[in-house]
Amino acid sequence: MSMKVFRGEILHFIEDPALNSQEEIEQTSHQYFEDGILLIENGKVKQLGSAELLLEQLDDDIEITHIENGLIVPGFIDTHIHYPQTEMIGSYGEQLLQWLENYTFPVEKQFSDKNYALKVSEFFLNQLLTNGTTTALVFGSVHPESVEAFFETALNKNLRMIAGKVMMDINAPDYLTDTAQSSYDESKTLIEKWHGKGRLQYAVTPRFAPTSSNEQLSFAGKLLKEHPGVYLHTHLSENLKEIEWVKSLHPDCENYLDVYNKHQLLSERSVFAHGIHLCDKEYRALSESGSALAFCPSSNMFLGSGLFKLDLAQQHQIKVGLGTDVGAGTSFSILETLKDAYKTQQLRGKKLDSFQSFYLATLGGARALDLEGTVGNFKSGCEADFIVLDYHATDLMKMRIKQCRTLSEKLFSLMILGDDRAIRSTYIQGELAKIN
Ligand code: GUN
Ligand code: ZN
Repeated sequence: MSMKVFRGEILHFIEDPALNSQEEIEQTSHQYFEDGILLIENGKVKQLGSAELLLEQLDDDIEITHIENGLIVPGFIDTHIHYPQTEMIGSYGEQLLQWLENYTFPVEKQFSDKNYALKVSEFFLNQLLTNGTTTALVFGSVHPESVEAFFETALNKNLRMIAGKVMMDINAPDYLTDTAQSSYDESKTLIEKWHGKGRLQYAVTPRFAPTSSNEQLSFAGKLLKEHPGVYLHTHLSENLKEIEWVKSLHPDCENYLDVYNKHQLLSERSVFAHGIHLCDKEYRALSESGSALAFCPSSNMFLGSGLFKLDLAQQHQIKVGLGTDVGAGTSFSILETLKDAYKTQQLRGKKLDSFQSFYLATLGGARALDLEGTVGNFKSGCEADFIVLDYHATDLMKMRIKQCRTLSEKLFSLMILGDDRAIRSTYIQGELAKIN
């Protein structure tokens, strides 16, 4: 039996701060220990509490890791990212449809080569750990080899990752399309091999409505029905031209989401990226089905897609997680993504406070991925994936933090000024995995 003890400033969320009134936020949405102890047994959280209380219960000879000038929080959760797009991050000057054609598709072509995919997987997963992201929902490419390579690499690192092979049988270059039947067969083989192996899970991944035939979408629904517990991961209502295109391809459907709904793709394990330009009916269908939206502010600004309406998603009680959406997103960092999230909401005349932000980055992400109780906070029994945030990561942050009086102010300075430099270390199931 392996026991590990960490002592320092610790924060985690147990509820969504958006559900509380301003006064209640301090008491009920999170637990915060200025001098806390996180006790880990066999990679899972055994106990969290104040040092004053917990130290008494520990054996005198137990080794304690002390964390100073830092904050221990659960590992960040990225609910939408494309690993084959790592190399083309920050490609200039297009909106969604031209960006896909000119930059994305040519880069994804290379992932038919498994050795190439292994190299990029290794780099990509190291980027996640460097940025404090310990769980992600990840697009592969259309090639099953890309997902084989990704899962092999993630398994070696003992990471909790969800990924899937892109299904794409129309409106894309020949070199990047499958068929409805081959996408079903290949996805099924991958599910049987990888779903539930280690901490890996599979997501059925039709790219988006324009690149899947009705036949392929119905095969996606069949895969979900045949393999309970598997996820659905796709894009939804990101760009106005895309939405017009979907309308012209599916004149029988009431709205964009309806295309997916017709094929029974909405459930508690469905994650739709973007959802910027939704109508009321779509919000209600997402809410009623327990589906989640991935809020990708960096990508949404980079491709000029629009501003996500976080308040409307919250009013409809839709689960929301954060997505970097690399390579349309311009950073792997969830802290930088929060900075962009804050700014996008400011542009809409709305606020995004720091408690809500750190909730979205941790427990909110876990809920969006239907993983509450597994990751996302330090409740007893959760897998002990956590990070140490460094208040003193840069000279500027060191200066700024001296002026912060409250926890809320300290968190805000981390998300506005922080990036990978503010992630001092990343732990996977209690083991040090990355030190920056
Ligand atoms: N819609 C369809 N494919 C993609 C993609 O790769 N990135 C983004 N941002 N949107 C998409
Ligand atoms: Zn995307």
